[in-house]
Amino acid sequence: DVEARVDDLLSRMTLPEKVGQMLQLDARQDLAEIIQDKLAGSILHTSPAKLIEASELLARTRLKIPLLTAEDCIHGHSFWPGATIFPTQLGMAASWDPELVERVARVTAIEVSATGIHQTFSPVLCISRDLRWGRTDETFGEDPLLISELGAAMIRGYQGDGLADPTGILATAKHFAGYSETQGGRDASEADISRRKLRSWFLPPFERAAKEGCRAFMLGYQSMDGVPITANKWLLDDVLKGEWGFTGTLVTDWDNVGRMVWEQKVCADYAEAAALAVKAGNDLVMTTPGFFEGAQEAIERGLLDEADIDSAVRRILSLKFELGLFENPRTGDVERQREVIGSAAHTALNLEVARRSLVLLRNDGTLPIDPSAATRRIAVLGPNADDVTSQLGDWAGNSGQVGWMPDGHPREMTATVLDGIRATVPAGWEVTYERGAEIQHLVPDPEGPTFQDGQPRPPIAESAPVDAAQLDAAVRAATDADYAVVVVGDTVNLTGEGCSTATLELLGGQIALLDAVAATGTPMIVVLVNSKPLALPESALNAAAIVQAFNPGMRGGQAIAELLLGLIEPSGRMPISAARHVGQQPVYYNQLRGQHGSRYADLTQDPLFAFGEGLSYTTVVYDGLAIGEPDVPVDGVVRATVRLSNTGTRPALETVQAYVSDLVTSVTWAHRELKSWRQVTVPAGESVTVEIEIPAADCTLVTADGVRVVEPGDFELLVGPNSRLTALQSAKFRIS
Ligand code: IFM
Repeated sequence: DVEARVDDLLSRMTLPEKVGQMLQLDARQDLAEIIQDKLAGSILHTSPAKLIEASELLARTRLKIPLLTAEDCIHGHSFWPGATIFPTQLGMAASWDPELVERVARVTAIEVSATGIHQTFSPVLCISRDLRWGRTDETFGEDPLLISELGAAMIRGYQGDGLADPTGILATAKHFAGYSETQGGRDASEADISRRKLRSWFLPPFERAAKEGCRAFMLGYQSMDGVPITANKWLLDDVLKGEWGFTGTLVTDWDNVGRMVWEQKVCADYAEAAALAVKAGNDLVMTTPGFFEGAQEAIERGLLDEADIDSAVRRILSLKFELGLFENPRTGDVERQREVIGSAAHTALNLEVARRSLVLLRNDGTLPIDPSAATRRIAVLGPNADDVTSQLGDWAGNSGQVGWMPDGHPREMTATVLDGIRATVPAGWEVTYERGAEIQHLVPDPEGPTFQDGQPRPPIAESAPVDAAQLDAAVRAATDADYAVVVVGDTVNLTGEGCSTATLELLGGQIALLDAVAATGTPMIVVLVNSKPLALPESALNAAAIVQAFNPGMRGGQAIAELLLGLIEPSGRMPISAARHVGQQPVYYNQLRGQHGSRYADLTQDPLFAFGEGLSYTTVVYDGLAIGEPDVPVDGVVRATVRLSNTGTRPALETVQAYVSDLVTSVTWAHRELKSWRQVTVPAGESVTVEIEIPAADCTLVTADGVRVVEPGDFELLVGPNSRLTALQSAKFRIS
């Protein structure tokens, strides 16, 4: 039926109308030009007013083909005032809970679909291995399996009961593929990555997304081996569409087609670039208005066949039919908006996710603060203690990279750490607040105000000087308090697209603040509200406690307060390794073995905090790892049990992690890789036995020829609470 409708419509379309369908243009530009002159079939970065204007303009076009509207709703509806903003992907990943992430995506889809947006540019399935990279916060961290599982969950949540589901939105797996493998952490640089390396680590989460039924993929900005991703026929056509059978739509990243002309200079003009992009398999061309004329000229010059354009347009129209846009263009439903945007149920879920995203990294016993104590004085200090923008993170309306978004999110929807503590401490406790330090200030880039192509060059976020008066006030507050909660981290100018950092240090007056508060002798609790793990000074590392909160979203402050007061159990686990020093990059856990001399003379390669690490308010001991049948056929399952004993007085939500090491491999391979995990509650004082199952078919590697296989032989199963070897129980098995 869809096919017949597509055939019929296509047969009635002119070439300009077809090319127009391939354009996804920026709605912040002149909409009349976009919709009436360029005949664009899709828009992004809209606003409530722009959505209304767009549908009025569309009604005046010849065929009135419904618009596909798209947005970066990557941890909630990024631009809709009053919408629910969840923790960032990295924060959510700390929950290690696919079911929770699926619920987040479902709620996001419900809010986003009510506002007339059909496509979200999410999930991000990049593997973040270099913490300098500005988009680390947008990822699920560093591990291919964790990313695959959470990504698949997010896709299910977004797409709901399928594209026809009016509460579903189109998920977009991005950034295909290898984009995060930057040079020096700098976003959008050439990715120095071989096909084998891609297949080993970077492609699996995308393959999983394709299998999960994700109907759109977005490219990154990277080129690989001299080929811009937009022209990478091998990856887009052979692998994605050929090997994996992907039939959805492929969208470029921002002006990727234009950049092949004006930046990468692999094409002399837009006709050449359009031909290259279409032939490689791209469908939606994001924000390159020149593609409209370029593609038509390419056909005139014989660089492209109209049939190539037809295939792309077919995929786009099929999608629009499957979304049901011709029957119901889904331009927004005010009634539903009132009911669902920022609803109480969505806010409750947001709090649940925020609680699960907090990782307790150090605790000398100071936490939890006993809420039954008669009276206590808490000094809440630091630049991120009462900062909505830092707390919400990137892609949240009123922040950093997306500062352009029209209305932002109302202040009262967010509980900052200060708000959360004030609202949660028992009556009679005293809470004081001092900002204590600034993080950064913006200065013009000495390289000049514009790039070569005339685009404005963003300012540099320089470390702010120590402000003696601010610092003194914070020290006085800490001295007079029973506890000092110091909330430090980064800001949205130091994260996001084009905002990678050269350093991982706490900027501005933050180190001075931590040092000075530590010197007061008041127990110091460090809360990290940061887009990505940062290197910490000694004063922070010696603090009474450290809580990694990432960008915990609108309810983050409340969740943090509950954790400090022991009203919830800490359960988050690091989805990414933290570095001791920026020079330690990369420090991810699943490094290749056989790098005996690959170390620094002046610094251990041991991470500051390891992948999977996180504490509870109790101690859980792992022992008795036992493999059922140690000889497993290739199509069999490795089964094991391990005992967890809670030796403390509070319950624990444990994330039991199972890693596998292939003991002898035909190629160099990772020391160990996460193969499965289970989350279990271990009541205080009790023991539970946890069963682990790993299909032998998952114990693979990628050969020198780039083929993923199981190499029969000896393996080691490693089970424990985190990825550190010292934390893992081990047992041998054999695959034959
Ligand atoms: O979706 C984003 C992408 O992640 C980076 N470039 C811009 C796109 C649209 O905003």
